[in-house]
Amino acid sequence: MIQKKLEVRYQPFDKTTRVPPGTTLFSAAHWIGLPIDSTCGGRGTCGKCKVQVLEGGAEITTADRKQLRPGELEAGWRLSCQAKVYEDTTVSVPELLRVPKAATMGVNRLVLLDPNVRKVYVELTEPSLEDQRSDVERLRDALTAEGFDMKSDLRVLRTLPAILRAAEFKVTAVLGGDQLIAVEPDDTREQSYGVAFDLGTTTVVGTLMNLRTGMAEAVRSTLNGQAPFGADVISRISHGMQGDEAKDELREAIQRTMNGILAELYEAAGVDRNRLYEMVIVGNATMLHLLLGIDATPISMMPFTPAFREPLYLPARDVGLDIHPAGYVQTLPVIGAYVGADIVAGVIATGLAREDKLRVFVDVGTNGEIVLGSVKRVLCTAAPAGPAFEGSQIRCGMRATDGAIEGVTLTDHVELQVIGGDIPPKGICGSGLVDTVAQLRLAGLLDAGGKMRSREEVPEHPLSDRLITVDGVRGFLLAENVYLSQRDVRELQFGKGSIATGIKVLMDVMGVTAADLDEVLLGGSFGSYLNPESAKIIGLVPPVDVDRILSVGNTAGEGAKMSLLSFRERQVAFELPEKIEYVELSGRSDFNDSFVSVLAFPELESLR
Ligand code: FES
Repeated sequence: MIQKKLEVRYQPFDKTTRVPPGTTLFSAAHWIGLPIDSTCGGRGTCGKCKVQVLEGGAEITTADRKQLRPGELEAGWRLSCQAKVYEDTTVSVPELLRVPKAATMGVNRLVLLDPNVRKVYVELTEPSLEDQRSDVERLRDALTAEGFDMKSDLRVLRTLPAILRAAEFKVTAVLGGDQLIAVEPDDTREQSYGVAFDLGTTTVVGTLMNLRTGMAEAVRSTLNGQAPFGADVISRISHGMQGDEAKDELREAIQRTMNGILAELYEAAGVDRNRLYEMVIVGNATMLHLLLGIDATPISMMPFTPAFREPLYLPARDVGLDIHPAGYVQTLPVIGAYVGADIVAGVIATGLAREDKLRVFVDVGTNGEIVLGSVKRVLCTAAPAGPAFEGSQIRCGMRATDGAIEGVTLTDHVELQVIGGDIPPKGICGSGLVDTVAQLRLAGLLDAGGKMRSREEVPEHPLSDRLITVDGVRGFLLAENVYLSQRDVRELQFGKGSIATGIKVLMDVMGVTAADLDEVLLGGSFGSYLNPESAKIIGLVPPVDVDRILSVGNTAGEGAKMSLLSFRERQVAFELPEKIEYVELSGRSDFNDSFVSVLAFPELESLR
């Protein structure tokens, strides 16, 4: 059901946004890139985010009473992080007291550097017979005076008395939100790190971020250690169904992979693990379940329900990850069984749900996740694309590693782009496959129905000697021992047909056509490498001008980094499942009908 949106206007900027009822004035401001001051991460304890409600209303909350004077409350001042809107509202925002640092991340997005992890240096008064407050009270009072709330942790309490005294009560408190993560001797504010993880089914990428500067200090990636249990999520889930031991195997495999990456990151960046306080993890729903040791079986069966969708903030030691022993892991929310936290991160990185432009974002892989929308309305779905794009089930298919043909141009001869440079080609990866098929279409060697020409049919064609037959099946020879077969073309037709149909269903539900689209964004570890023109020629994406088809890179990783560096972005991510409508394709008659109609390739004239 679509909730009625409310209009919130911010003065003196005269900026307006439309948000679902119950959104805070603080979050709504961030959706339109309006920074409201804060040091407490929107927890209602710093009092810096106050705004004056000019029209509409906002209930007075307990935090308002604590932070604001009665006269201010009467004049309509409220803490914007606590004030939820339930009617159209106009507020006035005071001048920013400080200009937060910002960094460009994601797809040209400006991110305020406002991490959830904060370091606060305090000089506490030493205890005396006149002042017998406990160590915790002493620390809490000092933090409260700075506008921070604090929940203590047993691990920190164990070390607190000794550290305070050794450091003569001059310490740095480390907070993750309001959780006290550590108390360190002296002023350590310069050393604050976090890590963003993109937990892919195939590849895992970790980026160590400096939370002070917003810069990436080191990046490492490796294959997911669960690979021996199957290449895709369904085979991993099937393995987990064998019992608790099998689930443990899966969990331990991914923990080992992540801890291996962490060890490499510490070494590469010269950072002590005790200075790494928080990690943000994104991945598909199955990967998050398996990492946390949660049964993922229901994800693979009708009606496809994950055990949890909400974001989790968990002690890193419970997840078995080697960061600061009292550090935390934050997962981003998932939208459904097949639209995971990686896609939520992608929506953050592209700003798709916050801008006026109408865009479709496609993460191409075994599953094609598709998000269509703008600030007005956002729809998403997952289309089963099969393994073609990952290079498996393709006669000479391979992963995008050294020796893989990743780009193809056909003129009167064959030009190949091979990963690793000047080495003999060993096979074709997904982007090479899409390129080959598109180029064969342009060269007139593949008809719109997907049928490859034979040498006899086009004897005069400059590439006719490349047309071969292997075991009675037609093929096109790209290099010695590497060819594309007629069956490969069929596999690709199914994959692209499924994604194209998913896009079409979403456009139909929204009531828009290709002409209404401002941009098509190709993301994910595979989509980013696709040649936009080829994607259009094979009909994977709607027929828009090719300069409006953009490769947007690893949006999952970018969104994770943004959520690590900015609690506001994280807050936006938390709200996305409420804002994005999921459209289930299975069982839809329009999916089956259009699927058949988009199996063919578009006529070339229709693309001009
Ligand atoms: S009180 Fe700190 S952000 Fe609202």
